[in-house]
Amino acid sequence: MSEDKELLKDGKRIDGRAKDELRDMEAEAGILKRADGSGYFRMGGTEVIASVFGPRELHPKHKQKPQRGIIQCRYNLAPFSVDDRKRPGPSRRGKEIGKVAEGALSSIVFLEEFPTATIDVYMEVISADAGTRCVALNAGAIALADAGIPMKGLISSCAAGKIEDTPVLDLKGEEDKDGQVDLPIAMNIETGEITLLQMDGMTDIDEMDKMLDLAIDGCEKVAEKQREALMETFGDKK
Ligand code: CDP
Repeated sequence: MSEDKELLKDGKRIDGRAKDELRDMEAEAGILKRADGSGYFRMGGTEVIASVFGPRELHPKHKQKPQRGIIQCRYNLAPFSVDDRKRPGPSRRGKEIGKVAEGALSSIVFLEEFPTATIDVYMEVISADAGTRCVALNAGAIALADAGIPMKGLISSCAAGKIEDTPVLDLKGEEDKDGQVDLPIAMNIETGEITLLQMDGMTDIDEMDKMLDLAIDGCEKVAEKQREALMETFGDKK
């Protein structure tokens, strides 16, 4: 993160948003025929398709948990999702995001109902302009619900950050690259549980509080969008 570009002018950001404004969002459930569940989520220029397979028996067997199921997440940036073609295949960054996504999603699923099973969540980033882990989780949670997996609620995610010493909501690419802090969170709006919190950059307690407030408000709006998408799909199926 560097700070050479002008990212805030007269209280407006480079794309004209206010400090507490999310990028425009789109959400859809049930977009893939061959998956048990699927979801699409877009925030600005970041788009993710998620698919869910399972619950199904986990192989190899030594990975099985006798008392509960597990969630396995794969996060993948498509080669065409970024400006410079991304080299296909696994990367350290992708593995890390897959792991934190597993943690974030596992807390909402009643995994004790599926001993020895796995629920696989594949999150394909088809367009990346910052916040891909958040958008991946938003699509993943829709896909889990679409698959009919019993859950305590939804996981909703967005990032707050700091640009030009100012806390703002939902960084886009240039803000992430040239800003000072990126703070993605994921939470279950119903229970208030925060299931992912990561931070890149430097801040203090006061700013951290402001960024968290922004991100929590953002997650509430994301949750509304996710619910709308699910209502639309389940409404159609009736
Ligand atoms: O995407 P997210 O903010 O969750 O993660 P990041 O590691 O902070 O990446 C920020 C952004 O950098 C991504 O959203 C992409 O737009 C970009 N990026 C890229 O262009 N090429 C990569 N190999 C990785 C990230």
